[in-house]
Amino acid sequence: MPSGLGVAVIGAGMAGRAHAAAYRTASTLYSPTLPPVRLVSIGDVQPEFGSLAARRFGYERSDTSWEVIAEAEDIQVVSVVIANSQHRRVVEGLLAAGKHVLCEKPLSDTLEDSRAMSDAARGASTLARIGFTFRRAPGIAYIRELVRSGDLGKVLHFSGRYWTDYGCDPAAPMSWRFKGHPGSGALADVGSHLTYVAEFLCGDLSSVSGGRLSTAIEQRPLPLGHVVGHEHVPVSDDYEAVENDDYAAFSAEFENGVGVLEASRVSAGHANSLMFEVFCEYGAARFDQRRPAEIELFLSEGKSAQNGYRQVILGPQHPYLSGGLAMDAAGVGFGQNDTFVYQARAFLEEVAEIDETSSLPRCATFDEGVHNMEVLAAVTESALNEGTRVSL
Ligand SMILES: NC(=O)c1ccc[n+]([C@@H]2O[C@H](COP(=O)([O-])OP(=O)(O)OC[C@H]3O[C@@H](n4cnc5c(N)ncnc54)[C@H](O)[C@@H]3O)[C@@H](O)[C@H]2O)c1
Repeated sequence: MPSGLGVAVIGAGMAGRAHAAAYRTASTLYSPTLPPVRLVSIGDVQPEFGSLAARRFGYERSDTSWEVIAEAEDIQVVSVVIANSQHRRVVEGLLAAGKHVLCEKPLSDTLEDSRAMSDAARGASTLARIGFTFRRAPGIAYIRELVRSGDLGKVLHFSGRYWTDYGCDPAAPMSWRFKGHPGSGALADVGSHLTYVAEFLCGDLSSVSGGRLSTAIEQRPLPLGHVVGHEHVPVSDDYEAVENDDYAAFSAEFENGVGVLEASRVSAGHANSLMFEVFCEYGAARFDQRRPAEIELFLSEGKSAQNGYRQVILGPQHPYLSGGLAMDAAGVGFGQNDTFVYQARAFLEEVAEIDETSSLPRCATFDEGVHNMEVLAAVTESALNEGTRVSL
């Protein structure tokens, strides 16, 4: 068997390509401690998607079935980057075959399946992790440091939105994202990110209330061909019903502070706007994914007359960036793709048993993935019961 770590990515769609690219770059960052990483296979049921991605990102081959990847002796590490409803079957199969698995968020499309996956992870001899990519955004990790160090002080309240516009156009084709139970739409797709970011800063959620789910566009045309991510492809004259939420909102009570959160796929003009402000005892901080290489910070320092944020340009003195960019000077700019690289690197380091204290924080566990699903289920329960308060 070849030496080093053999990697495969299952799913060559929007996020699968980010995983494929990330494994390619992961060993070029930080100190050269990783064993050699072999880019072995991209798996996709659409043969042309897999083979194109394999050529583009320099993988040895492509496969059309996850079972082939599960059986391959030259593969040890696998990312699962396919529709949420398919995560369980593939992840359980890979763990049973002795692969280390990094699964995309949300862990599954149902709480029940996510709990079964967590049970499978506990019984496995290999690692099972979930990405939670935005925890690795340097700006968000820096704001967390400012909260934890006491510079910002206790969190009082949080206001967060993950607004996207991929569902705005009624002609946008039907895809797996628009199918499933209430809460499996915008709430699961982008609200899953927003909720773990909120908890990263404010501590665990203790309850949610005022849940609201709504569907703005009730049917969508069927695509003529395969849809990747949020792509628009030619569509037919046949329509199917949208089954889940275009918009979700709720109030939250955290270990520290309270907040209001919104997730949407019908926010015109917002392609990918994860934005929040966190208000604390000694100041406030603001993050906006549209400008990910900076944050805005206000430290009151007891001088209440000095209102207003200042811009903080991120650089090597902030989380992830020293050695985490090929040119790691302040102000060079970076974005969401880099967070996939930090995630891939952290996962490979854990597989290689590199000491965590001298490197990156580990990826989240499946138990944390289940907790994230419990939050989504609580918001859905609140929404289906006229906004009632649901404890976690
Ligand atoms: N972390 C992030 O920022 C982020 C961003 C986007 C998507 N995601 C997550 O990634 C996952 C995939 O989302 P996407 O937008 O990339 O989806 P997508 O629809 O763009 O791509 C999915 C791909 O999987 C392939 N596929 C379907 N069934 C398969 C199977 N059984 N075996 C192998 N391939 C199969 C499809 O042909 C398609 O190419 C979802 O869980 C989503 O929530 C995460």
